Amino acid sequence: MSASPGDRRRRSAGGRYARQSPVGRLAGKAALITGAASGIGLATVRRFTEEGARVLAVDLDAGRTAHAVAGYRGAVAVGTDIRDSSQVDAAYDRAFTEFGRLDTAVNAAGVSGAQADLCDLTDEDFADVVAVNLAGTFYSVRAAVRLMRRMSPAGGSIVNVSSVGALANFPLPAMYPASKAGVLGLTRAVAALVASDGIRVNAVAPGATDTPMLPQDEPVRRAVVDLGVLRRAASAEEIAHTILFLASDESAFYTGQTLSPNGGYVMH
Ligand SMILES: NC(=O)c1ccc[n+]([C@@H]2O[C@H](COP(=O)([O-])OP(=O)(O)OC[C@H]3O[C@@H](n4cnc5c(N)ncnc54)[C@H](O)[C@@H]3O)[C@@H](O)[C@H]2O)c1
Repeated sequence: MSASPGDRRRRSAGGRYARQSPVGRLAGKAALITGAASGIGLATVRRFTEEGARVLAVDLDAGRTAHAVAGYRGAVAVGTDIRDSSQVDAAYDRAFTEFGRLDTAVNAAGVSGAQADLCDLTDEDFADVVAVNLAGTFYSVRAAVRLMRRMSPAGGSIVNVSSVGALANFPLPAMYPASKAGVLGLTRAVAALVASDGIRVNAVAPGATDTPMLPQDEPVRRAVVDLGVLRRAASAEEIAHTILFLASDESAFYTGQTLSPNGGYVMH
């Protein structure tokens, strides 16, 4: 895929692309981040733009996402439901139109699903979580690889957000750890398939993190947080630091790996 004449003119004329920070760990790079309107995804948009990246910020609602990233220079918001592969493909097309390149994709969009006893979970409860956490991540990884393979030179870094629930018993409905374990399998499989294209694929498996997804009911929250020996939740920024490392060239020898900032819940 090559840049359109208009894209080339704007970049060479020192237009919007050239205005982005020339310094930083992601200077000159372009990223697409899903789940960008809240929590870990939003913190990642903030860190990436602080480090000089241009970011296509992807979440369900374009207006909410635009509002969330309004203060971040270099971020462009789009509304995309990652359960729909045609919408995901359109978001990647938009990233190329905006930036003329794609170096990094971060798949942070996710849902925890209905809280219910195992035997009360419906087929829809299971399918809904898998549709976002696993199928949506697959659609995004596939679209990212298609685009990264067509760059000259080919290459890039993909970071999938899994969960410590994929690594150890965690008090969440079964479809959540099942979907997040699927993300780890997807990460390893694709990492092996695309290594020769210069594309790295890694996963982050956070422990309890202070976002709207963490249970707000204090006893439940406390029980989840106390699973880690640090006995606190991570901030979304702490998880974004790990994502930034995996996106940047500092992690050039990492692929197919899972990094788990989990406050000492799982030690390995
Ligand atoms: N918060 C935690 O304790 C925790 C722990 C481990 C893993 N995670 C994972 O981290 C990721 C980010 O979660 P968070 O804690 O920031 O939660 P969050 O609820 O703050 O953010 C999730 C975002 O994903 C978006 N999203 C949901 N469905 C979508 C869809 N179909 N298409 C596009 N966007 C969609 C939501 O609108 C939301 O903005 C998730 O994958 C989650 O499973 C969170």
